[in-house]
Amino acid sequence: MDNKSFDTLAVHGGEERDSHYGALSIPIYPASVFAFSDADDGIAIHNFEKPGYFYGRLGNPTQTALDRCIAELEGGEDALSFASGMAAISAAVLAFASQGDHIVAPESMYSTATNLFRDLRRFGISTSFVDATDAANYRSAAQPNTKIFWIETPSNPLVQITDIAAVAVTAKELGVLTIADNTFATPYNQRPLEMGVHISLHSATKYLGGHSDLSAGVLAGSNDLVDKIRHGPSKLMGGNIAPQVAWLVLRGIKTLALRMERHNSNAASIARTLTSHPKVADVFHPSLESHRNHQIAKSQMRGFGGMLSLDLGTADAAKNFVNNVQLCTFATSLGGVETIVQPSALMTHATLSAEERAAAGIPEGLIRMSVGIENVDDLIDDIQQALEKL
Ligand SMILES: Cc1ncc(COP(=O)(O)O)c(C=O)c1O
Repeated sequence: MDNKSFDTLAVHGGEERDSHYGALSIPIYPASVFAFSDADDGIAIHNFEKPGYFYGRLGNPTQTALDRCIAELEGGEDALSFASGMAAISAAVLAFASQGDHIVAPESMYSTATNLFRDLRRFGISTSFVDATDAANYRSAAQPNTKIFWIETPSNPLVQITDIAAVAVTAKELGVLTIADNTFATPYNQRPLEMGVHISLHSATKYLGGHSDLSAGVLAGSNDLVDKIRHGPSKLMGGNIAPQVAWLVLRGIKTLALRMERHNSNAASIARTLTSHPKVADVFHPSLESHRNHQIAKSQMRGFGGMLSLDLGTADAAKNFVNNVQLCTFATSLGGVETIVQPSALMTHATLSAEERAAAGIPEGLIRMSVGIENVDDLIDDIQQALEKL
């Protein structure tokens, strides 16, 4: 289905009805063991010389359907699904970085990824954290032992934008692998592989699942790179997705294009409305012309995404805001159909010290908002009544 548009792929991606009695919804294969019908066949499947299934940790037909769907949506040759976004992230990093290697990563990004990179020092893998809003910083931080340029754009929680193509060009010149966390954008808004990135990955817990009811991760890339992850960390450390969850992700993806259209437009309207609000010190959303890398976002994204953040000035104001909202939900995840708000400095990014948060540009009064698909006027009313009480 190479020439189909994204919305069509989202509905039909990974489809293979013939081997499933024509079922429109891919069956869930809960089997952890698959029997062989013949000695030569079984040995060939077990030794990866022939396609097939034999053990749950190494895949099942439901996972394959999701893997194929993700490969099609991201424009990769192959894909692999995991039990969480962090499982996908650690598998990707550990497949390509070894003792003595070096990584360049954004100083402002999802805090658990930051903490993982820090923890990798224990295994002799070092990371330089840079201001990723200027692609030139990747080149400046590169060392002879640099193996990975890590990109997260838009970033969590500040929705900072990295120039993907510029980083990919530098990486190619230096022989470095580029990995992009595409969670905030989704493949609907942004396709990093088409911009020269080697691996694009996601927390599928967020927009791909889309309904705050599952935990999963996916990655996509070329056959040889994905194979290296499949036969490396995915197989050796475990952590592949459960078939029941793979099915849920596939179901979520069918409406991804529709949902993202609404997430994009709702977030842009809310961002525009709040820029002039007296209680809001700053609004961060790539749709705003005031956003530092608005032009880059415009050139590399189809839509600006459903994530935005607000600086309310103080930690107390951020706490009061989440207490005051009535329609918006105070919770910690993102990417679901419902609008979720959280005071990032006090929660997801509380694992960083105050100095580290300051270096990452995360104000103490920051509210991260995952704008859902509710009616935008209802959302604006709720946000305004919560702000008025501050
Ligand atoms: C940008 C980003 N990447 C990765 C992850 C990790 O995903 P998971 O929670 O599914 O392990 C998150 C989680 O919030 C995230 O926001």
